[in-house]
Amino acid sequence: MRFEATVEDCVTTFGEIPKQLCGGFYRAGPTFKRPTRQGGNGLLAMDGMVQGLVFENGRADFRNRWVRTPKYLLEERHGEGMFDWGDGDRTDWRNIGFGPARRDRFSRGVPQGTSNINCFPFAGEILASGEQGSPPVALDPITLETGGIVGWSPQLARGIFEQAGFGDAAFTAHPKWDSATGTLYGWSYSNHAPYVTVYVVRPDGTVISRDLADAPYSSEVHDMWLTPEWIILPFQGFVFDPDRVARDLPVHGWDPQLPTVLALVPRDDVEHGEIRWITAEIEPQYIMHTLSANTVGSTLVLDAPIFDRPPFPLDIDKFEGEDIALFFNLARSTLGRWSVDLDTGSVKSELLDDRPCELPKVDERFYGRGHRWGYLIGGDARGNGMRMHSLVVRDIESGHEQEYRLRHERPALVMEPTFVPRTPDAPEGDGYLMVPVSRWTENLGEYVIFDTHDIAAGPVCRIEIPFLLGFTPHGHWMDFR
Ligand SMILES: [Fe+2]
Repeated sequence: MRFEATVEDCVTTFGEIPKQLCGGFYRAGPTFKRPTRQGGNGLLAMDGMVQGLVFENGRADFRNRWVRTPKYLLEERHGEGMFDWGDGDRTDWRNIGFGPARRDRFSRGVPQGTSNINCFPFAGEILASGEQGSPPVALDPITLETGGIVGWSPQLARGIFEQAGFGDAAFTAHPKWDSATGTLYGWSYSNHAPYVTVYVVRPDGTVISRDLADAPYSSEVHDMWLTPEWIILPFQGFVFDPDRVARDLPVHGWDPQLPTVLALVPRDDVEHGEIRWITAEIEPQYIMHTLSANTVGSTLVLDAPIFDRPPFPLDIDKFEGEDIALFFNLARSTLGRWSVDLDTGSVKSELLDDRPCELPKVDERFYGRGHRWGYLIGGDARGNGMRMHSLVVRDIESGHEQEYRLRHERPALVMEPTFVPRTPDAPEGDGYLMVPVSRWTENLGEYVIFDTHDIAAGPVCRIEIPFLLGFTPHGHWMDFR
């Protein structure tokens, strides 16, 4: 979806848009604007595109806009790709487009990030983040015009890549937040010590940070759990190391020999409190995204889809010249649970189900407060991976699930669900679920809206986008009420 579009008063092909919805549903994804200097098109070298569907009084307006990062603006000015990527000379699976940028007099001083993985609400703006390569970029929630890099970026650590200039930094694509205070909980990670720095960002832009000086090793820490007491960061043997590029390997690697280690950072004193390190004596496995975090007595119950390996192309299964294959084509995850006994410091891992699933979400008003309801996309096993087709609502307490199939005979991309509360103070899980579906064989997009009272009964509304809806891995809802 290489163009910007505005679709006012979107057409519904089924049902009506609930009138009480007032807010925006935002998604971010990598989108091909122009080739890199090497003529490549690596996934993470692609510019970020944000899609927004803004609701008011039964009407929905769609917009999508490029995230006008410093990289984007430089290339716009010159009318061509201006970056060389350390891994960009590869024409195969090793070219993620996320090696260190090789800079010249034009790109010197310009952060290499593309802010293309997720976007989330913070302090009245939408922030797009790519996890590495630049700090979050703020966008206007209505027009999606880029405001610029967040003002608190100089308080963040550099992450993997050398800083292009003052304020260049890294910030996760999967922060959590406290809905009562608007406080954002995030981190950045690096391939050099300190491997992780944790942040508490207040809506006024003040940042409290903590270097995890005792972190066991460099790990690609993509997501975390938040409980009332703890920020829980998993260290797993999935690494992101630009030094690998010089060895003809992709920037990502997997070392299943490394132990799974959890860092528990106390929320009540992030800056100085004692960090608890817990080594999980479990078989090698990989969690990419977290679902829910609950505290039962002295046990932390951490649910997530569990893979047997990271869903990225690894040197164990790829050979020179092979095409890139990513995510759910490569590996399969099923819902599982890590139970952390805080008395003994032991961790038990179990699988709760055998249906492939990923893209887990919760009612985000309850981040850090415990969760009863979980939302996922489910599917079937296919090869070593999985084919996703269904919205799943799971009662985390009882394990009871409801499911609705969104993909039938024709290929379609069923993307991550997002919960929207019925009213701002509705009970947990009472509201709507929005699922973007790219019906790419028909050159159409769709937002399918369900009522959480009964998703098995089918959607209450289908909103059509009259062109192919581009791929977005993640997104969030911002309430205007
Ligand atoms: Fe993610």
